[in-house]
Amino acid sequence: MSQAPAHARSSQTVTLTEDATGKSWKLKVLEGTMGPKVIDTRGLYGETGYFTYDPGFTSTGSCDSQITFIDGDKGILLHRGYAIEELAAKSSFLETAYLLQYGELPNRAQMEKFTHNITHHTMVNEQMARFYSGFRRDAHPMAVMVGVVGALSAFYHDSIDIGDPQQREVASHRLIAKMPTLAAMAYKYAHGQPFMYPQNHLGYAGNFLHMTFAVPCEPYKVKPVLARAMDRIFILHADHEQNASTSTVRLAGSSGANPFACIASGIASLWGPAHGGANEAVLQMLQEIGHKDRIPEVIEKAKDKDSPFRLMGFGHRVYKNFDPRAKIMRQTCHEVLGELGVNDPLLEIAMELERIALQDEYFIERKLYPNVDFYSGIILKAMGFPTSMFTVLFALARTAGWIAHWHEMLSEGQKIGRPRQLYTGPVTRPYPALDARSESVP
Ligand code: CMC
Repeated sequence: MSQAPAHARSSQTVTLTEDATGKSWKLKVLEGTMGPKVIDTRGLYGETGYFTYDPGFTSTGSCDSQITFIDGDKGILLHRGYAIEELAAKSSFLETAYLLQYGELPNRAQMEKFTHNITHHTMVNEQMARFYSGFRRDAHPMAVMVGVVGALSAFYHDSIDIGDPQQREVASHRLIAKMPTLAAMAYKYAHGQPFMYPQNHLGYAGNFLHMTFAVPCEPYKVKPVLARAMDRIFILHADHEQNASTSTVRLAGSSGANPFACIASGIASLWGPAHGGANEAVLQMLQEIGHKDRIPEVIEKAKDKDSPFRLMGFGHRVYKNFDPRAKIMRQTCHEVLGELGVNDPLLEIAMELERIALQDEYFIERKLYPNVDFYSGIILKAMGFPTSMFTVLFALARTAGWIAHWHEMLSEGQKIGRPRQLYTGPVTRPYPALDARSESVP
């Protein structure tokens, strides 16, 4: 397991001056290997009596990390220094998961051992099936995933001692291995079909497709092109620095919570439409648009400040030039649809929407480009997944990143995450007797 070395400290400082009194404080500047420098505000409150204020963390580095680097202006995404374009073209999801967790690409023997470990942890305790039958058949599969992943901690007691590196490693293998099984079971349950057991002769993505789409009454052959596309989609979603769900996993983990509960918290955070839920929202939006002719109307609605509507699959907190994952996803989309001979009118609508939006001043000014989720839904639909499964697939892949960040945080011994606030509520006041209270209480 890679240990994060202490960040290099630059010799620079910045000075904070309180204009009212002229008092000033020197703050240290820390420098990583790439990316913007950060001002070290850890001692700020103690020294100055001020907190920093940054809701939404738009300018806050919450930790040191060696896992993923993003340059949003240049459209660069690196995992452990390797470009996402190269990983998508040459690596596999399991190899990328290894890289994220251990810091280096595996050699042949390490890869074989890791693959063996993951493959031999794909089954889930048979009793897990009963959890599924407790859910309504029409439950959203993300609701099911939040529940069943959290419930793993009730089954695997031998891997929840987070102080033991060996147990942490077993838990991480279990999570990466069991996510496809649990996700496929969520699909099967919603469709009233029997659960399919994992097949050890299949690769990670192929096995997932088999568990999802095979039925016991006839043979199912995984199409290599689909297994490859699935694997690439998993690689593209494997990690993305300190996004909302990863930060949620880190925050949950910082209290010493067990890994299964931490990943369940990440799944809950990912579910929102501003994050992983966007891939589902994109497809719904394209279906609602229905025809190219309606695109100008939709673009106007997205620009209207009185309307809450946003163009789903557009915009990113970090990417302000292009999302490198979106480019690969667009290409994969054409490949998959071409290979399957699918002529989806939604692809035409998506391409036209992208073309028009990219020429529109509103989107240009705000640097809003298609993100990773813009094309993924069309591919997943062509592969046969219902929209409700899209975010589940994102969660399955992102588990590799969540786990890597969780390991990194624990190996660095990070303090419990405990932000402060700018309090804007009532000042101290006396408690009034019941009869003396005004009627203005809502
Ligand atoms: N459609 C229309 N306007 C938009 C959009 C959009 N998709 N995204 C941002 N804007 C506008 C926004 O109204 C604001 O305008 P103004 O400056 O006039 O007030 C400006 O662009 C900046 O937006 P913001 O909300 O301050 O930006 P943010 O960094 O807080 O939000 C985002 C990033 C991804 C939440 C947002 O772009 C969004 O809601 N996009 C649609 C949902 C989506 O596709 N999410 C998937 C993100 S990628 C996958 C992942 O990481 O999970």
